[in-house]
Order: sequence, then structure tokens, then C-alpha cells
Amino acid sequence: MKGIVFTEFLEMVEKTFSPETADQIILASELPHGGAYTAVGTYPHAEMVSLVVHLSEVSATPVPDLLRTFGRHLFSRFVALYPAFFPSGMDTLTFLAGVETHIHAEVLKLYPDAQLPRFDTRRAGEDELVMDYRSDRAMHDLAEGLIHGCIQHFGERVHLRKEVVDGTGGTCARFVLRRERL
Ligand code: HEM
Repeated sequence: MKGIVFTEFLEMVEKTFSPETADQIILASELPHGGAYTAVGTYPHAEMVSLVVHLSEVSATPVPDLLRTFGRHLFSRFVALYPAFFPSGMDTLTFLAGVETHIHAEVLKLYPDAQLPRFDTRRAGEDELVMDYRSDRAMHDLAEGLIHGCIQHFGERVHLRKEVVDGTGGTCARFVLRRERL
């Protein structure tokens, strides 16, 4: 998992909880590098799982809630860090329909060792999009938070429904988005 995900996660923990909480979960996770992540480095996904599980214990907040909160935060950070991916005139459904073919394809060019999920998308009319998420890392709660962050960013009224299709092994979740016209 790319270091940017860790650095942004720890920044969110510092802001939303406290710098002490960030230190506490780093210590509890017994990380080989003591939590010194660099944005361009690559680290085991298990370290993210450990940090989130410890944060869940310390904060008495369920892991899925933390991942959703992190997803929203991460999306706003992507907007700040990679403005070129968010051209003016873009809308929520068009952006999300291109996450696999455009956004993550560009991410792979920047970071060839990135481990990305797979999204199969289907546009069912102008105001509806179906996204099927597949990943060995089963981070559909993070994906959900990112999608909510995306909806918030574009400021449209979009209803999101998630169905976890298969909770075992290669986890798969379906996101159904419906835009409401004002
Ligand atoms: C709402 C839109 C997006 C969704 C739903 C999404 C979803 C995800 C998810 C769920 C992961 C975790 C890995 C996994 O599940 O296997 C991930 C990883 C990542 N995404 Fe996205 N993403 C979105 C937009 C973006 C954007 C805009 C960028 C950059 C500009 C980006 C860059 C990355 C990077 C760098 C990783 C980490 C790769 C690694 O750990 O090796 N994503 N994405």
C-alpha cells in the first residue's frame, strides 16, 4: 500500500483525535520503521489494518466507521494534491465512471507498484451509475467514504446505496448511485 495512504491516515488521526492517539496506535502496531512513512514508499497492507484496528480500540469506534471517515478525508486530500484530476465542468457520475479507466490508470503510471481495486462500472441512464468493487484487500468501506467525499466535492444530490455481494475472500461490493435533479 502506498505511503500516501498512511501519511494521510495518520494526519487525519492527529486532527480528528489527537497527536497522542496517533503515537499510541503507532506504538501498539509495533511497526518496524516506527511509523515513519514517506508518501512515495510502499508498505504492507497489514500495517494499515493494524493501525485501524488499534484506532478502533482506542476510540471505541467500529472499524467500518473509521474507514468511511478516512475515505471522505482522503478524497478531499486527493483534490488538493492532484487538482489536474478534477477539471472544471466535471460531475460526480462522470468522475466516478472514470475512476478505473482514468484516475487509477493515471495513479498506476505515477506509482507502478500501487495495489488498486478493480471497478466495473455501468451507466444506467444519465442519472444512475453502478460500480462493482473488487479487491483482495476488502476496503469497500474506504471506497464508500471516498465516494461520499466525491459527492460532497461536486455538490450534487446523489443517493448512494451499497450492497456487499460477497464478504469472503475476494470481497466484492456494489455501489448504486442515483442523482436527484433539483
Ligand atoms: C471516489 C473515487 C475513488 C475511489 C472509490 C477509490 C477507491 C480506492 C480504494 C478502495 C483503494 C484501496 C485499495 C483497495 O481497495 O484495494 C484505493 C487506493 C488508492 N487510490 Fe483510489 N479511489 C478513488 C479516487 C482516487 C483518486 C482521485 C486518486 C488520486 C488522485 C486515487 C489514488 C489512489 C492511491 C494512490 C491508492 C493506494 C494504492 C496503494 O495502496 O498501493 N484514488 N482507491
